[in-house]
Amino acid sequence: MLRKKVDQLTIQEKIGQLIQLTGNFFDTHNDSVVTGPQKKIGLSRSYQINNTGSILNTVDKQQIREMQRTHLLKSTHKIPLLFMADIIYGFKTIFPIPLAQTCSWNFPLIEESATVLAKECYEAGIHVTFAPMVDLVRDPRWGRVMEAPGEDTLLGECYAESMVNGIQGNGDAQHIPKGKLAACIKHFAAYGAAVAGREYNSVDMSESMLRNFFLPSYAKGIEAGAKLVMTAFNTLNGIPCTGNKWLNRDMLRDTLHFDGVLISDYAAIDELITHGYAENQTSAAKQALLAGVDIDMKTAVYANKLEKLVKQNQDLHALLDEAVLRVLMLKNDLGLFDDPYRGIQTEEDITNTILSKEHKETALKLAEESIVLLKNNNHTLPLSRNQKVALIGPYAEEKATLGFWAITGDEADTITLKDGLHALLDTSCLSVARGAYLLDKHTENLYDKYNDKLPVESEDEETLLEEAIAIAKTSDIIVLAVGENTYQSGEGGSRTNPVLPATQLRLINALSTLAKPIVLVVYGGRPLILTEVEEKVSAILYAWFPGTMNGLAVANLLTGKANPSAKLSMTFPRSVGQIPIYYNELRTGRPQLDEENTHRFASRYIDQSNLPLYPFGFGKSYTHFQYSDFRLNQEEMTKNEQIKVTLTVKNTGSYSGKEIVQLYICDKVASITRPVKLLKAFKKIDLKVGESQRIEFEIDNNMLKFYHPDGSFDSEHGDFDIFIGKDSAEHLFKRRIRLVSKHNT
Ligand code: BGC
Repeated sequence: MLRKKVDQLTIQEKIGQLIQLTGNFFDTHNDSVVTGPQKKIGLSRSYQINNTGSILNTVDKQQIREMQRTHLLKSTHKIPLLFMADIIYGFKTIFPIPLAQTCSWNFPLIEESATVLAKECYEAGIHVTFAPMVDLVRDPRWGRVMEAPGEDTLLGECYAESMVNGIQGNGDAQHIPKGKLAACIKHFAAYGAAVAGREYNSVDMSESMLRNFFLPSYAKGIEAGAKLVMTAFNTLNGIPCTGNKWLNRDMLRDTLHFDGVLISDYAAIDELITHGYAENQTSAAKQALLAGVDIDMKTAVYANKLEKLVKQNQDLHALLDEAVLRVLMLKNDLGLFDDPYRGIQTEEDITNTILSKEHKETALKLAEESIVLLKNNNHTLPLSRNQKVALIGPYAEEKATLGFWAITGDEADTITLKDGLHALLDTSCLSVARGAYLLDKHTENLYDKYNDKLPVESEDEETLLEEAIAIAKTSDIIVLAVGENTYQSGEGGSRTNPVLPATQLRLINALSTLAKPIVLVVYGGRPLILTEVEEKVSAILYAWFPGTMNGLAVANLLTGKANPSAKLSMTFPRSVGQIPIYYNELRTGRPQLDEENTHRFASRYIDQSNLPLYPFGFGKSYTHFQYSDFRLNQEEMTKNEQIKVTLTVKNTGSYSGKEIVQLYICDKVASITRPVKLLKAFKKIDLKVGESQRIEFEIDNNMLKFYHPDGSFDSEHGDFDIFIGKDSAEHLFKRRIRLVSKHNT
């Protein structure tokens, strides 16, 4: 039936289905559209706006309803518009940024957050969200690490799967049920490996690295049924992803079996020209269509050039038909042909779950499980009830804690840290001062279109510092809320030196001379380099951008109402010089065997340790978990068998809490060099004081497989080391196992 529909369309109407424009092109009250937005992106005057297939980032339900209504009135074939938007980690109820979410290692909870996201979007009439972003990241200079699942392949896979399930639902694979949206896996591929962490920079990596580390998270999202994939801006081994036929047809469609809609990233088809890969718009259109890109996001390339191309070439016409069919199938899967106003409630049936109590509770839970306790000397935390607390810092009363991609969130809904602490502490115990500017004065104009969104600093910097010192002196403990600004991370937010602003460092230095314990609460979109400040404070709670429930989540953790359980999904470097630094590096021929080893001809730096400031998987708790009684049921297995590793974890501290037990594997000898270790399994458990639990991991052949140069995915017989521990660095249990073809009886 849909194929028939494609055949009924004229070439221009077909091309229209592949065009995505922003809502301002449809301003029915503005007759200057042709000279306005249309001219701005160079759309030919003959382009019929009513042929357009989809809309980008219109999120207001009245506007969506009205645009759909007028569109259907005017369009010949009554094909509804698709509304797509970047709702990455919350529509109105904003969750922690994705990099924080994966520190929870709680994927059912992440799925729940995506369910909330989908529900709120559904009620606004949005059909597709450009999430999840599943690019693996190793370089905290890159601003977009904030929207990524971190450095580990397994966590990336779990994130991709749980987000797709939460957004789309995991019922009937074809039709997207009510309350759900279509998910879009992005950015295909390896966008997170931009050279030197500089935004939009090229990516160069071996196919082995690509297949073994970077592709699996996209593959998992596709396997979970994601209806769309978005291309990446970058080149991959010299070819821009958006025009890369090998990547998008051979790899994405043939190898990963993706049969949904491939959309370009914003203006990426036109950028094939700037990349120097296409000579002009005609060749850019041809390259992208040949590469299998279905939708052209926000450029005039397909609209202006495809018609002539397909009229001259039957093969291209067939590709156009395929692309249109995929777009129509997506509309059909969403049920738009039956109900083009899908999800938009009328005044009578409004249930209004947006920002509901339940949604906020989920956001609070996820924020509490995402915030990482990095340091806690002498049990500085949790705060005790009778302590006099000086809450100091530019984040003490800051509402902008939603992070860069919360484009539909409202900062006004955010609970500040001051409000959170007020709810839990006696008012007489809490005094508050700003202490420093959020950004250094001379850097305030570096943020281009966001310059106007920065806080206005009206007070004198010296006065702020004096006020802070004064309240600190009369308090027992200082809670110092610092961090980078929202626009220092996110898209276009690369930094060469991701440290705290100088004005805030000055505040930390001044307060550290007062001999009071300092609890540093750090906000940011990336692992900031904290080496300079780490020694000056007693405790560090890394809040990331925690979303709407910010202040309450942080206050619950500071006071012990909640116990920190998050563990890092990305390594914290000691210095920029160590970047990229990640736990699962490949083995070298000359490893540094231990920290004391100063042998010159080893793989090490002469001026700094190889070790990060905080390793992947690391995070503290207020309680203590004791690991004991490790058992392996056998040391040898064939490919059809499993080995069971069991251990006991006991909560021997004085708070109930959650622990994330991690299992890593190292392949000792293989036909390609394998990493020093790879996370292969984990368990998050909840234990009351004194409680213990027996944990079982099952090691199977799948965990030992890797991609070989010929594309095959298999394991190789031989020895493997198994490590179990609380993070990627400290292993409490190590044993060797062997994969054999048959047992020697
Ligand atoms: C980003 C994408 C996003 C798109 C649409 C681009 O700049 O790279 O992640 O989905 O804009 O807003």
